[in-house]
Amino acid sequence: MPGPGRDEDRFTRADAYIADRFAAEDDALRAALESAETRGYPDIHVSPVQGRFLSLLTGLTGARMVLEVGTFVGYSTIWLARALRDDGHLHTLELMASQAELAADNMARAGVSDRVTIHQGPAARTLKNKAEEWVGLFDLVFLDANKNDYPAYLDAITPLIRAGGLLLADNVVRDGKVLTPAPDDPNALGAAAFNDALAAHPAYESVVLQQVGAKGWDGLAIARKRA
Ligand code: DHB
Ligand code: MG
Repeated sequence: MPGPGRDEDRFTRADAYIADRFAAEDDALRAALESAETRGYPDIHVSPVQGRFLSLLTGLTGARMVLEVGTFVGYSTIWLARALRDDGHLHTLELMASQAELAADNMARAGVSDRVTIHQGPAARTLKNKAEEWVGLFDLVFLDANKNDYPAYLDAITPLIRAGGLLLADNVVRDGKVLTPAPDDPNALGAAAFNDALAAHPAYESVVLQQVGAKGWDGLAIARKRA
């Protein structure tokens, strides 16, 4: 009987099958994961397969300027930074000083320090401070920070994306919790409000793709800013 548990197991094994073939990690990516595990941080990085997908989208858009909201220890940052054009740069925003420091080490190990700037502090504050300097600058934005503030981040990020640029947002399905978010679940509430705002937003053509695998059941929002 293929109950939910069985399905999850099959999705995870198929994800590993895909990762083995399409998303091999090098020492620097593995070390980034270990740096978080050693400190007892939760395993909330993107999966290798999701990392490869971020890398592909970065290449497809020919991205030179990328913004990431929510660095954590920089696992997704490495995938994104390595896919930038040679003259490209990535700005990534992280609230926690300890994680930003770890991310800096991880960027160095991955050989991408020169193309990555880590901005430590509340993302809302950094976005406000940079609102003028960064207007229309980014070819691609990856939103992966605290989910309760996703709607506010959408407002702050939209002017920073160039016409035709790409917005990606992680964790917008959350085990299906966005369908009927519990009143005491700020993450699901934030993701659900973000999805509604994005779907209705005149500046974007967008969709949400469900994902299953190593990270359970979740989804990625993909939105193109209209020209
Ligand atoms: C959480 C955050 C993430 O960015 C993620 O991919 C998975 C989980 C979390 O905070 O629970
Ligand atoms: Mg995430």
